[in-house]
Amino acid sequence: MKRIVIAIDGPAASGKGTLARRLAAAFNLPYLDTGLLYRVVARRVLDHGGDPADAITATRHARGLGRLDLERGDLRTPEVDLAASAVASIPGVRAALLDFQRAFALHAGAVLDGRDIGTIVFPEADVKLFITATLDVRAARRFAERQAQHVATTLSAVRDDLAARDDADRTRKAAPLRPADDAHILDTSCMDANRAFAAAADWVNQALAKG
Ligand code: CDP
Repeated sequence: MKRIVIAIDGPAASGKGTLARRLAAAFNLPYLDTGLLYRVVARRVLDHGGDPADAITATRHARGLGRLDLERGDLRTPEVDLAASAVASIPGVRAALLDFQRAFALHAGAVLDGRDIGTIVFPEADVKLFITATLDVRAARRFAERQAQHVATTLSAVRDDLAARDDADRTRKAAPLRPADDAHILDTSCMDANRAFAAAADWVNQALAKG
């Protein structure tokens, strides 16, 4: 099969990760959750008692990132959510992570999900998807995940966290969250994971048929 790149972007908890994993399995492609890269940088800054908004510190930690860091089990906490959004607005951090993301797809193609994959990281991607859902639907999904992880939180705290991060991600100067002009937009508010996958797989098959 042709080595293709599938770029998936969208706001927090929109279902990008679930969809990306299923597409990667179905089309036999490696998968990179690029949010983890920003989460690792944030985690490293916090571990060293640093300020995630400090550009010099965060950029230093981004340059030192290794593949094994992505395996850490402490990257999906509410504290890291906010710190990841803070380091993600720093241009030096984004520049340091760009090569890692591009190199990932070099040999076998890839599915990548994030905020700027279709606009900045892979503007020439074969398929671009922008996944959305209403804030309430996304908050309910993330709250259920947090409960499954036994993280003590409330629906309204989760909702506030998502709204704050979306706002920061959309309005930042460096690689703001937005759909690429040629992205397929998929609103999953009223869609289960199977329907979202079926719609996305159709677009991928159309791109493959075009060669
Ligand atoms: O899983 P969730 O949607 O909550 O977030 P994530 O994809 O793990 O991303 C965490 C944070 O990293 C986001 O709020 C963004 O600020 C940032 N991020 C980014 O700026 N660019 C990316 N390609 C991926 C994530």
